[in-house]
Amino acid sequence: MCGIIGYCGLSQAAPVLVKGLRRLEYRGYDSYGIAVSNRDIAVSKRQGKVSEGERDARSIRGKIGIGHTRWATHGVPNDRNAHPHTDCRGDIAIVHNGIIENYAALKRDLLERGHTFRSDTDSEVISHLIEEHYTGDLMKAVEDALPLLEGSYAILAIARGEKRIVAARQSSPLVIGMGDQEVFAASDMTPILEYTERAVFLEDGDIASLDPRGVVIRNSGRVVVRPTELIDWSFDDVKKGGFRHYMEKEIYEQPEVFSNTLRTLKREEVPKWLRKVKRISIVSCGTSFHSGLLFKYLLEEICRIPARLEFASEFKYFPPPLSELVVGITQSGETADTIAAIKVAKSYNCPTLAVTNVLGSSITRIADHTFYTQAGPEISVAATKSFIAQLAVLMHIVDELSGGTLTESLERANRAIEETLLLDMERAVACCQDAAHIFFVGRGPLYPVALEGALKMKEISYIHAEGYAAGEIKHGPFALLSEETPVIALCTPGPTYNVMISNIREMKARGTPMIILGEDGDWDLEEIADVFISLPSHDLVTRILAATVALQLLAYHTAEALGRDIDKPRNLAKSVTVE
Ligand code: F6R
Repeated sequence: MCGIIGYCGLSQAAPVLVKGLRRLEYRGYDSYGIAVSNRDIAVSKRQGKVSEGERDARSIRGKIGIGHTRWATHGVPNDRNAHPHTDCRGDIAIVHNGIIENYAALKRDLLERGHTFRSDTDSEVISHLIEEHYTGDLMKAVEDALPLLEGSYAILAIARGEKRIVAARQSSPLVIGMGDQEVFAASDMTPILEYTERAVFLEDGDIASLDPRGVVIRNSGRVVVRPTELIDWSFDDVKKGGFRHYMEKEIYEQPEVFSNTLRTLKREEVPKWLRKVKRISIVSCGTSFHSGLLFKYLLEEICRIPARLEFASEFKYFPPPLSELVVGITQSGETADTIAAIKVAKSYNCPTLAVTNVLGSSITRIADHTFYTQAGPEISVAATKSFIAQLAVLMHIVDELSGGTLTESLERANRAIEETLLLDMERAVACCQDAAHIFFVGRGPLYPVALEGALKMKEISYIHAEGYAAGEIKHGPFALLSEETPVIALCTPGPTYNVMISNIREMKARGTPMIILGEDGDWDLEEIADVFISLPSHDLVTRILAATVALQLLAYHTAEALGRDIDKPRNLAKSVTVE
């Protein structure tokens, strides 16, 4: 979703801002803009891709500036609605992430008081409110204006004649990068990494004044000090490194990501209270929901701990009666629904645990304890390596709670991921690429993997794909099976193997092309399959991981064959920071 970048230092701001906007593209956007302060404030903004208007924007001179990639929520995507927004005279410019819930009432009052609006956005009220309070001190004007806003925001503001940026945060991420005589602000570290590894994460209610000499942060009228953290992600982590797409690079990083995550976890103590939990609730969205479903399965099956899984977006409005540990799983740590669900859990006095990939992200500031995944920055919108890293954390927890039942398998796991990466998907891709619909089916722990495979396929190839528990296919979806509807079946040894074979035969009898993922040497399956993919797996852990990675490859190569915009699929945002 929307991205923010700010620069104040000794260099020209516009090139830094434009490069920053390119790095933020992965979050998803429909328009962009920058404002740079010199004698006046110059604004360049438009609908479309940064690359299309980059030259104009870069040419603006000045050493203080703010930039924004917009994902439309209030007002259609067009040049006018792109940020930055200015006040009536063009002396103040702001960029904003989040939603101003009371903007309609504020706008009505501002119009009555004679303000001129140039956009249909909720954000523009902010520049006009700051204008009303401005008497030559931007920090004070922002402090006076913000209490009038209801909703969520990360804001950067500049004013003509002031050599600083004022930043503010409420329920929307904002990080400050501390350089040498220069300072940056952004919605995440991606655009800052090439300049500095020193970061200060703002807390809710913080308002900060940023200039090349340093940063002053105030909260509720008092100066506060926030720690400077060292971010060990490198700039190389956010480059493509010879791969055609970030998604491909990120898929191939998975063996390392899995073992790095496990290695880091082994150095940490599992909190004592976690060992005593009697029930667990899990909240998450999208791909993180699928890792949550696997976690539920493993907790119940292996640890015999009852677990409930809820979509974070539902949990917030219909929280079940609960008193147990609530686990929020989120790659970004910023997904609004997951954050809201964890806040609800806290209001019930439940202990909370976060599993996230992003140091200092919002969820880490709310949850009682955080386990970090070591996936590094995930640029492609489709989650791959962050999912595998989540599985490393969740399987590690299960291993700890069950007295080491998974230890050996976890040690062998990254070998299985490496071998899966060598699989040839050509025949499976040929079978999928012209389909209008595809079903993914599995049972038990391979059911969440089927759901995740279908999600990957639909989001990057735009082919309609549905994940099903194989037994459910007969209760309706069977009506859709035909020679044009391939089914991807996950069928590995285990308690459901025989019944899965029966399901596969029934589907095959409807003429359905069957792509089967099974284990090496399974001649029966090979005979039934139109395309057989042999997984290098030998136990529960490696079956889950190998099947996941194989389906990622299938989705990736299918999307590639169809010429899709793989890293930035249409209509999708990397980080969904509105509910
Ligand atoms: C799919 C995908 C999304 C995210 C979902 C939750 O590939 O990336 O479904 O998994 O938006 O995001 P996080 O994990 O950041 O809470």
